[in-house]
Amino acid sequence: MEIVSLENKIYCAIFAVYKKQNMKNIIAFAGTNSKKSINKDLVAYTSSLLEDVNTNLLDLNDFELPIYGIDYEVEHGIPDNAHKFLEAIKSSDGIILSLAEHNGAYATVFKNLFDWMSRIDGKLWSEKPMLLMATSPGGRGGATVLEIAKGRFAYMGGHVVEDFAFPSFNDNFSEGKITNEALDSNLKSKVASFQKQL
Ligand SMILES: Cc1cc2nc3c(=O)[nH]c(=O)nc-3n(C[C@H](O)[C@H](O)[C@H](O)COP(=O)(O)O)c2cc1C
Repeated sequence: MEIVSLENKIYCAIFAVYKKQNMKNIIAFAGTNSKKSINKDLVAYTSSLLEDVNTNLLDLNDFELPIYGIDYEVEHGIPDNAHKFLEAIKSSDGIILSLAEHNGAYATVFKNLFDWMSRIDGKLWSEKPMLLMATSPGGRGGATVLEIAKGRFAYMGGHVVEDFAFPSFNDNFSEGKITNEALDSNLKSKVASFQKQL
């Protein structure tokens, strides 16, 4: 009895390691440097909806970069953090990204990272399947920056499988979850479609 049970435990442990090693690896991040970011909240919830996937939640605060400038690049080269972030993209099987909208455009921290990475590889998104989102406290949920990103990423190796603008964040999200049923079900169907492409 004891031996069978031990064998079972070993088998289960080996299977668990095998399964983990064969799971897809995605990166998930928000296009903001806010520590209380609503886009980070949306990214964390969205990642939790994926099944059997290893998720690496990245924070742009861990990839500090000088403001892009051609003179800086000529003098110092491209900073390591731009290389590191690009490497995280290239070694992933897929990307979940939610963009903050500042004055109808990318938040500066995201645009800066984007510009630096584009100096290494113009096709930086590397055709990785992407679930592209945006949210804001406003009724359009960052739809303007989402459209800008969709249009631009297409020229830069982007493969946006699904996109989702999540409106009126403070009314529709609470305690780590979407509270509006219709929006939640819409996101879940987009996550399922993204998962199929991994
Ligand atoms: C400089 C600035 C500009 C903003 N512009 C917009 C905007 O154009 N559209 C919008 O919906 N929200 C705008 N907002 C509000 C942001 O959507 C809000 O701060 C949101 O929390 C940002 O996302 P984050 O929390 O993930 O950083 C702006 C906020 C700031 C600070």
